[in-house]
Amino acid sequence: MRVALAERYGPPEVAAVGTRPRPEPGRGELRIRVLAASVGASDGAWRSGRPWFARLAFGLRRPRHPVMGSDLAGLVDAVGPGTTRFAVGDRVFGATGASGGAHAEFVVVGENGAIERLPEGVSWSDAAALCDGAMTALPFLRDGGHVRPGMRVLVNGAAGSVGGAAVQLARHLGAEVTGVCSTANVDHVRALGAQHVVDRTQVDAMRTGERYDVVFDAAGKSTYRRARRALVEGGVYLTTVPSWAIMVQQLTSRLGRTRAVIMFTGLRPDEVKRPDLDELAALATTGVVRPAIDRVLPIERIADAYRIVDTGHKRGSVIVTPSTEPGEES
Ligand SMILES: NC(=O)c1ccc[n+]([C@@H]2O[C@H](COP(=O)([O-])OP(=O)(O)OC[C@H]3O[C@@H](n4cnc5c(N)ncnc54)[C@H](OP(=O)(O)O)[C@@H]3O)[C@@H](O)[C@H]2O)c1
Repeated sequence: MRVALAERYGPPEVAAVGTRPRPEPGRGELRIRVLAASVGASDGAWRSGRPWFARLAFGLRRPRHPVMGSDLAGLVDAVGPGTTRFAVGDRVFGATGASGGAHAEFVVVGENGAIERLPEGVSWSDAAALCDGAMTALPFLRDGGHVRPGMRVLVNGAAGSVGGAAVQLARHLGAEVTGVCSTANVDHVRALGAQHVVDRTQVDAMRTGERYDVVFDAAGKSTYRRARRALVEGGVYLTTVPSWAIMVQQLTSRLGRTRAVIMFTGLRPDEVKRPDLDELAALATTGVVRPAIDRVLPIERIADAYRIVDTGHKRGSVIVTPSTEPGEES
């Protein structure tokens, strides 16, 4: 089967298409024909080995798992003995986690992994994009920010995959949403549902005099020190990107006027992720969440996909299509 892989750390050019034997599902496992998989910021770190601490997770000298990609959607192609939750032909979506393998025509996952059924109305690309952005934004807003109706939420990086999903989900949770993005994305972020948009190239969103219950730094480009002046008493700064500062601030701010929170949503147990997948599928079916997709590329263009990701300015998700539906030309 065809795979996209990177056998050493480096720029997008180290990613190439290769072949691997088609994996066989074991007991309690299913093989998924991958029809869409996202190429996200964490795949970029996985391929580049940057920042350096990423290598603690991905492999010190070279990627431990050269076939990358976690967020996927596709069809169950085969099931191993004792598999009860899924059958051949089921539409599914979810995440493989740290072992990757989604940038391949087929991947084998445990049936109790972070995998759920995908309703008919949601496209393959949208489903893979949901796993990329909304699966991060939902726990941040709900569990980190405790967003409730009437709250004021600022989303920094509102045009990205996490930020774009955060705009839609914060609106769904009843918040008044301000999105922060560059000039080219102002209309896009408004179309996602933000009631207010700050062009970050013109205005410092943390110094407008407005106050927020939650500042969600989806891009991880600001700091708690900057954000706290834009928070109300009891307000929360959420960030996606770890640093020594935020680790310390998370502890020291606990008893303070405002709080700093970092979360690692991908590390949550699969049984916690599965209900979120179901909830997001339902929200996508009803159109409450419509993932933004920057580009859909064939797997052969994996290096181009990484080039877009590495700009740090993609609009929503970048998707590759490793496989085609049975009967379609490959
Ligand atoms: N902690 C976790 O559990 C977790 C989970 C998933 C992802 N992440 C991390 O979350 C981050 C965002 O992921 P993503 O997929 O949303 O990335 P993305 O799609 O690349 O989006 C990043 C967005 O940030 C904006 N941006 C770029 N430079 C900026 C700056 N200096 N100030 C403010 N905004 C800026 C860009 O929009 P404009 O060009 O319009 O500004 C872009 O749309 C990544 O670092 C990723 O690794 C963390």
